[in-house]
Amino acid sequence: MSQAVTIELGEGGEHDARALRNAFGCFTTGVTVITTLAQDGRRVGLTANSFTSVSLDPPLALVCVDLKSSSLGALDAAGRFAVNVLHADHQALARQFVQKGVDRFAGIDTETWRTGVPILPGCMANFECETHHVFDAGDHRVYVGRVVKLRYDPDHEPLVYLQGRFRRVHVDAE
Ligand SMILES: Cc1cc2nc3c(=O)[nH]c(=O)nc-3n(C[C@H](O)[C@H](O)[C@H](O)COP(=O)(O)O)c2cc1C
Repeated sequence: MSQAVTIELGEGGEHDARALRNAFGCFTTGVTVITTLAQDGRRVGLTANSFTSVSLDPPLALVCVDLKSSSLGALDAAGRFAVNVLHADHQALARQFVQKGVDRFAGIDTETWRTGVPILPGCMANFECETHHVFDAGDHRVYVGRVVKLRYDPDHEPLVYLQGRFRRVHVDAE
């Protein structure tokens, strides 16, 4: 029997929010850590699955950050950020970049490339971006970045996020 749920969204409310979250959660994504540099030189980062490629020419990508995020000020002031795409063995790292009141970068030797934002080593891909366009959409701020440098290593298996859980990709034998 199908467990499908159909909901017409009304005035908002708890029920709609849960249904929307569950439905959005049916879209499989990768997992990234967005990094930037605060004005006092502190490294700032948060786990995000809202990364989307936007344009090849010019090279643009976007991330959406909650307006309540403590990283917002640093992202706005820096005008640059990096998107670090995690691989399957990075689950602990993804959890580390959600934790409150800790140094999320503890034990991580970050690299710097062109703009000075911290780049996480050993990722499946890294995109260093200069902020191209910023706008608020509902309860999130959308940062469209122009990619100025990248690295990728397709030999890794990706870390996947679906329905609120980290997963691995199952590749069918040909
Ligand atoms: C898998 C996963 C994906 C997430 N994606 C996003 C996202 O795209 N945007 C966002 O603002 N928060 C996202 N979060 C939540 C933030 O990581 C979390 O709220 C943040 O680390 C809070 O810290 P901050 O206030 O210092 O930014 C995600 C969390 C997880 C575990």
